[in-house]
Amino acid sequence: MPIKINGSVKARVQTFGCQQNEADSERLRGMLAEMGYAMTDSDGDADVIVINTCAVREHAEAKVFGVIGALSHLKKARPWMIIAVCGCMAQRPEIAERIRASYRHVDLVFGTYALARFPELLETALSGGSRVFATEEEPAGALAEGIPRLRGRKYTAWLPVMYGCDNFCAYCIVPYVRGRERSRAPEIVEAEARELIESGACDITLLGQNVNSYGRSGGDVFFPELLRRLSGAPGDFILRFMTSHPKDAGEELFSAMASSPKIARHIHLPFQSGSDRVLAMMNRGYTRGRYSELIAMAREKLPGVVITSDVIVGFPGETEADFEETYSLIKSVRFDALFTFIHSPRPGAPSAELPDTVPREEKQRWFDRMTALQNSVSAELHQAYIGKTLRVLIDLETGDAEYPVSGRTSGNRLVRLRGSGAPGALGSFADVKITGCNTWSLTGELAQARSASATGAKL
Ligand code: SAM
Ligand code: SF4
Ligand code: F3S
Repeated sequence: MPIKINGSVKARVQTFGCQQNEADSERLRGMLAEMGYAMTDSDGDADVIVINTCAVREHAEAKVFGVIGALSHLKKARPWMIIAVCGCMAQRPEIAERIRASYRHVDLVFGTYALARFPELLETALSGGSRVFATEEEPAGALAEGIPRLRGRKYTAWLPVMYGCDNFCAYCIVPYVRGRERSRAPEIVEAEARELIESGACDITLLGQNVNSYGRSGGDVFFPELLRRLSGAPGDFILRFMTSHPKDAGEELFSAMASSPKIARHIHLPFQSGSDRVLAMMNRGYTRGRYSELIAMAREKLPGVVITSDVIVGFPGETEADFEETYSLIKSVRFDALFTFIHSPRPGAPSAELPDTVPREEKQRWFDRMTALQNSVSAELHQAYIGKTLRVLIDLETGDAEYPVSGRTSGNRLVRLRGSGAPGALGSFADVKITGCNTWSLTGELAQARSASATGAKL
């Protein structure tokens, strides 16, 4: 089978996971582009399809198996095409085995450790012969640099600062599929940030499963210092980061955030449960009391900070009384937004072995109560923005006639903009008068477009 070069072959990379997976997909596309592939959004004209997967919940896995299964007909019609499955699911031996046995139209399976070897693995798959499986773990500390990337968005960018996770929360598969924590060298992160800013990115999100652990796997620059260094770079941009773990967050982090208006006034601080008993079973390493202290500290150091979080209900052994603790924490903190999940047993993670007696319907009832509470809080908090003028980075064309563009505030609130002048402000920071809202977003109109000075107004 010929290897066609110079854009006459097309590739599609589909992402099913978190922001880290998105960042990996940008690298997969970068490697494909270097090999001469043009990108496509359609399976039907792709010569290579890469499915970048997520293993965090059963639902995510089921969705991926549906997508892989549906490709078997296409593979019959286009037998030369390569179907590759990679990412977190591919790193799980039992999943790789299931693909080997039952999804024989998949040509290449490679795990998170093998990302940098993708070009070589693809060449092997293209050269015919047998199917290629690269799912072995690599030695702790391995970290590949210099992988090209092809970004999909002009104004917003992902910047991974660390990989892996050492926290082993009892419900979570991530430490098993992403390996031990490895921090990228601060000079490399700084150089990449400069490159992104020079190429037009003005909203950069630093990524890590626990960014507060940055530097702890070796080196002497820790996350607060990294934030200070990056925010000192010239140019007009805003820095975001996720995710922070409450056990490692504190005064130093909040002071670093307060040190520069270029650092977003937003912290995503997952609490997972409001019950100390469940937090201990989850192996989270903090109590409800400590979490509440952190929220108070963040609000004191960073007036107006937007606080978002993740929560799980239905952890094995959780009782109605435990759930009430979670409910009351949500009520007292008043998060701006909350990502809510029902516990999904992950084979390989300790919680999958625990006895679980609460019926699914009961968990669903807890979940529905919790989301109803949060939706009403989010709507109330959004209502309070009406009439205010906020500084917004306008970063997206929506295709919607009434709200042709959208943007984000420093606190990461989505703002949809009305008015024929709005598209002209794309790629700039602008003052936006908020005129309406719903639970999930704000709407507004340009007060006055301007190229931002990041040392300017409160965001
Ligand atoms: N590293 C981040 C942290 O510790 O906050 C979170 C990473 S995880 C990809 C995102 C969220 O998925 C978690 O915060 C948790 O709420 C949820 N999650 C992880 N494992 C889960 C499971 N087995 N069932 C349900 N939700 C889960
Ligand atoms: Fe998973 Fe916990 Fe690590 Fe987050 S900190 S990725 S929830 S093990
Ligand atoms: Fe992310 Fe899912 Fe992997 S949340 S790290 S893609 S398991």
